[in-house]
Amino acid sequence: MLHLASETSPAWAPWAAQHVDTLLVDHAHCEKKAASTALGLLFRYPDVTCLQRPLADLAKEEIGHFERMLDLLDARKVPFGKYPAGAYAARLRETCRTDEPGRLVDTLLCCGLIEARSCERMALAADALASMAPDVASLYRDLLASEARHHRLFVDLAEAVVGDREAVRVRLAQLAEVEARVLAEVAGTVHLHGGPA
Ligand SMILES: [Fe+2]
Ligand SMILES: [Fe+2]
Repeated sequence: MLHLASETSPAWAPWAAQHVDTLLVDHAHCEKKAASTALGLLFRYPDVTCLQRPLADLAKEEIGHFERMLDLLDARKVPFGKYPAGAYAARLRETCRTDEPGRLVDTLLCCGLIEARSCERMALAADALASMAPDVASLYRDLLASEARHHRLFVDLAEAVVGDREAVRVRLAQLAEVEARVLAEVAGTVHLHGGPA
């Protein structure tokens, strides 16, 4: 269960197939950013014990995903380099409360929603690319199972931080509505979390 408040448009997958190599470069950056975000939380919250080992494991796994993306780009002879970040994640994170533990809980839930959206879109891309780019489809099928697990992990960590499952469920639903709105607003850019205008 991914807790998303909207479904990606049917127009997204054919659009993604047209932009596959650019999307792979953006996606590689997303995996690196996911590792960096997990590490950032470890630095910001060294006293929140329940975060430490799960986020250390997550950072390692996301760096592994980054390496797999680099391998795929190499195999496809697509150069990896700078690519402008999309506005999606930054705009979503603007919604986070500034008081603690609200800030931490919202950050964890936003991370969980980003994982969920990534998972949903990788599944769509894998289906669209099955015959055209089976190498990409195969890697995406591998990765999307991890991203679904990461979604669950972030929600579980938010629950562990507040100790109130119902409060987390309510906040997750609110943030899912924001995520759906932000996603619609950032359409028109070539990013995993972008899309056709
Ligand atoms: Fe990942
Ligand atoms: Fe992930």
